[in-house]
Amino acid sequence: MKPLDFRSDYAHSSEGLSELTRLIYDVFEVDVSPLDRLGHDPSVVAFGWWLGNELVANVSLYERRLWLMGEQVPAFGVQSVAVRPEWRGKGLFRDLMRRALSFADARVNLVILATGTPSLYTPFGFRQIKEATFSAGLVQQQTRARYRLLSLDEERDVAVLRDIFSRRSPTSLVASACDHPALFMLKVVETPEIELLHLPDLDAVVAVKGREGPSMTLLDIVAPSIPSLEEIVSALGYTGERIDVHLTPDRLSWTPEEQTPVDNGYMVRGFFAPEGRAYMLSAMRI
Ligand SMILES: CC(C)(COP(=O)(O)OP(=O)(O)OC[C@H]1O[C@@H](n2cnc3c(N)ncnc32)[C@H](O)[C@@H]1OP(=O)(O)O)[C@@H](O)C(=O)NCCC(=O)NCCS
Repeated sequence: MKPLDFRSDYAHSSEGLSELTRLIYDVFEVDVSPLDRLGHDPSVVAFGWWLGNELVANVSLYERRLWLMGEQVPAFGVQSVAVRPEWRGKGLFRDLMRRALSFADARVNLVILATGTPSLYTPFGFRQIKEATFSAGLVQQQTRARYRLLSLDEERDVAVLRDIFSRRSPTSLVASACDHPALFMLKVVETPEIELLHLPDLDAVVAVKGREGPSMTLLDIVAPSIPSLEEIVSALGYTGERIDVHLTPDRLSWTPEEQTPVDNGYMVRGFFAPEGRAYMLSAMRI
């Protein structure tokens, strides 16, 4: 049998992207091909073992732009960790993790990932962290509804979203992420119940769920200046009883009544300033 080749030059070539897309689909049944149109994250660095033209094992890094306890902190995220079934149990994942982490360690002090299998990553120095969601009842106020539902199938709407992403400011200074929009967009494509709404008076796009029900979930705010929660609720014309916020709420001019710890599978390696506090980094990722 031919030996495997190690490569780290393929994350942005069309051949590399198509093999990564195929591997991710075969292993996770997640289709990342919409990013061919919506835009791949240019910061991705992929580490992989290839058998000829076939990618059989991969670990990718991507730049995370985090705000943690008032400071902008450069970090790497780990994604697309996958080994084809016939190649498992041979140490390929361990080898690729070591290579990826030595690349990351030379550049940043923090690496972060999300997983359903923490035991895979504890041997590499990762530890679990908990996020929280925040909620409160809503007092009925007069609303000034003015919004437009965006569709990622419409080029014009994608342009609106890209523009506002390029100007976005952090939703929280305690803990939030201003990453490339690729994972945000994939989350929308993968989750039909998430709505993206453009609020022109606030120069904002919000991602929400459950707008028609008694309790709405606010998942993200993309805006150059973060509006208050009251302004957002009013601009959406939302008249339900309760709001759930999946963001750290320090910039929303709002005091939550409840906070609920949630395990979203996040793990960190390195100093993570908000550890032990209640925060939500970002729900808009897959
Ligand atoms: C998880 C996965 C990447 C492991 O790849 P692999 O090449 O078989 O792993 P390795 O042979 O390098 O094993 C490295 C270590 O991980 C351990 N390991 C492998 N699969 C594991 C699992 N599912 N749970 C816990 N530990 C696991 C191995 O026992 C080994 O431990 P050791 O160093 O003490 O011997 C591979 O099974 C896979 O692609 N699974 C499906 C996708 C997936 O779950 N990806 C991770 C999502 S976060």
